[in-house]
Amino acid sequence: MTAEKYPLPTPPELKRETMMQELLIRPMQKADAPFLLPIEIPSFGRFHWNEDSFRNEVSNQVANYFVLIHKPTGQFLGYAGVWFVVDEGHITTLATHPGVRSMGLGELLVTHLYGLAYQAQMLLLTLEVRCSNFLAQNLYYKYGFHMVGTRPRYYQDTQEDALLLTTPLLGDLRQVDLINSVLADFLERAGGEWCDGHSLKDAPALTPFAPPLNQAMEASK
Ligand SMILES: CC(C)(COP(=O)(O)OP(=O)(O)OC[C@H]1O[C@@H](n2cnc3c(N)ncnc32)[C@H](O)[C@@H]1OP(=O)(O)O)[C@@H](O)C(=O)NCCC(=O)NCCS
Repeated sequence: MTAEKYPLPTPPELKRETMMQELLIRPMQKADAPFLLPIEIPSFGRFHWNEDSFRNEVSNQVANYFVLIHKPTGQFLGYAGVWFVVDEGHITTLATHPGVRSMGLGELLVTHLYGLAYQAQMLLLTLEVRCSNFLAQNLYYKYGFHMVGTRPRYYQDTQEDALLLTTPLLGDLRQVDLINSVLADFLERAGGEWCDGHSLKDAPALTPFAPPLNQAMEASK
């Protein structure tokens, strides 16, 4: 699989002040796969996913994948995915178009993942990230993730270790400020047309710190 087969399209010009109105998050579809490879290849290097990887993940019952699209041009600007297994959300991938980085789109994907996980009543989110990927680590640390361990030689290409990061417990009263601010940000961004075609659009407003989670937390103290 080569970058020549999947050239990276020149991204649209985005302005921070106006871009939110031009963006859309919707569930990933199998037909999106060829449009994700131009982002996937430069983002993940030699052991990047191929079209079938995305198609298989879209069919995966425990997976939730979504794409970030620039509405006026239809261009794909990013994507992310999470598996919900029992009460844990595990982030499997997250990437933005290299031409529109450092504009807050990675944050948008992370807040969306938080919102989905909270709505699905997950206790926390986890993920693996390369030891050397400081840039992504910064993004996750900014949103409250912390390191709980390492997975030695997790990455086949370089034998590099992975850091295992998790969020605070999503219903943890001790994290109330962080979780509330992320969810408030998410809800604001989820307004209007933002989640077109996504179940969140019709979902009742999230109630932070739902009673079952609250009670579980209180009982565990
Ligand atoms: C990691 C990635 C998703 C970030 O996307 P992005 O659209 O640039 O992210 P944002 O603009 O929302 O940046 C948010 C935060 O990420 C961190 N960050 C982003 N770019 C950074 C840079 N060049 N240097 C240091 N930190 C950076 C910062 O904490 C930043 O917050 P700040 O602006 O307040 O400093 C993107 O670089 C990417 O797709 N990388 C390749 C794939 C990858 O590594 N995915 C993660 C796998 S675990």
